[in-house]
Amino acid sequence: MTKVAMLGAGFIGDFYTYSIQGFRSRDQVYIINDHDESRARTFAKKHGIPKWTTSMKDAVNDPRVEVVVIGLPNNLHLEAVKLAAAAGKAVLCTKPLGRTAAEALKMLEAVEKAGVFHGYLEDLVYTPKTVKAVGSVKAGTLGQVTWVRSRETHPGPHSDWFWTKEISGGGVLLDMGCHCIEIARNYIGKDIRPVEVISTADTLVKPIDAEDNALGWVRYQNGAIGQYEVSWTFRGGMDLRDEVMGTEGTIWVNNFLRTGFEMFTAGGKHGYVAEKAESEKGWIFPVGDEVAELGYTNMFTDMFGSFENKTIPMETFYDGYIVNEIMDACYRSAKSRKWEPVKLRVWRGKEKTGPISEIREYDKDHIFVKEERMPDGRIKIILKNKKTGKISQVEKRK
Ligand SMILES: NC(=O)c1ccc[n+]([C@@H]2O[C@H](COP(=O)([O-])OP(=O)(O)OC[C@H]3O[C@@H](n4cnc5c(N)ncnc54)[C@H](O)[C@@H]3O)[C@@H](O)[C@H]2O)c1
Repeated sequence: MTKVAMLGAGFIGDFYTYSIQGFRSRDQVYIINDHDESRARTFAKKHGIPKWTTSMKDAVNDPRVEVVVIGLPNNLHLEAVKLAAAAGKAVLCTKPLGRTAAEALKMLEAVEKAGVFHGYLEDLVYTPKTVKAVGSVKAGTLGQVTWVRSRETHPGPHSDWFWTKEISGGGVLLDMGCHCIEIARNYIGKDIRPVEVISTADTLVKPIDAEDNALGWVRYQNGAIGQYEVSWTFRGGMDLRDEVMGTEGTIWVNNFLRTGFEMFTAGGKHGYVAEKAESEKGWIFPVGDEVAELGYTNMFTDMFGSFENKTIPMETFYDGYIVNEIMDACYRSAKSRKWEPVKLRVWRGKEKTGPISEIREYDKDHIFVKEERMPDGRIKIILKNKKTGKISQVEKRK
């Protein structure tokens, strides 16, 4: 049984613990740490955790603990990673890895220097639909991926510290852009270098210093684009949708809101419906198994399986660092209102990737462009002349 120290008895600590201690699980949250004693104590009782402490250091250094899971506010990730690395413990950290790429790089260096197992807890690349969809893309079902659009929007986070820039490090771009960026990397190919970005990040609605809405494009070396759309001011629940466009196919994924479970209640006595649901009355859209639907189950299966087998999990601190570098560039672009380069201090993917292109020979003089059946039954074929470059069309009946 792998024994875990959970740091943070908040929202994500709860989801993580439900997932780790799932039905007949072999893994156990052995100690819970929170600086708020009553939260730590209540959390321990709720989840049947043997020990609780208000000291992060004591939790990490408990001799029975093998894996440290960080579910703390963003300003504490670096401190917690350093403690775990110094103790020689495996460490799994929630998103975003750092508030900046500089912070994320320190974390990557700390775990690599200590030689400890590390995993980046980016749950949304592990949703059952995303795992299946990424598998299809890797098998070539979509041809070459040209564009990924990823949206995460909801009515805003649940704790004060998210809204406080000094603690969180940023607004919605950092908090939720990190999900969308990593989803796009997984579809486009994590070994393809992100080269430049253009982004907006505005405070449209809320009385805060950080941005509450952001949109942007990340351009990869082969020309593919990862588009993110994030908002803390969306009304109507939590919208998690992705679209993938390839040269041979398309995928549309809706992970969460209105995915086939609808309920009506006139009384409004239901209570909790689903994460960030805004209504408990009228038509509501519950989620059957949030822990699984949001990817936590698959994520910890990968993390603990890899830890046991001494293999590398799908998402590591290196991935968290790359996402932070992309987001730093997005913040620079939102300020400059121009395309900004992604300045990677560490890159372990391909140095050069050829452009996306599809050259299909039609006959000895022509390259195929497109074919379409018209309403009257004719088939039009658009061709390009190899020598002159002229575009022409031929028609035939099939
Ligand atoms: N889908 C996801 O992967 C996801 C979702 C939500 C949050 N998160 C991430 O999880 C982290 C925590 O977010 P949350 O939603 O759980 O926040 P939260 O406010 O619900 O919980 C944070 C907990 O940390 C405790 N805490 C604060 N300072 C501490 C300290 N010095 N030592 C020990 N405990 C301390 C608080 O008392 C609280 O219980 C953030 O980095 C956030 O980005 C990830």
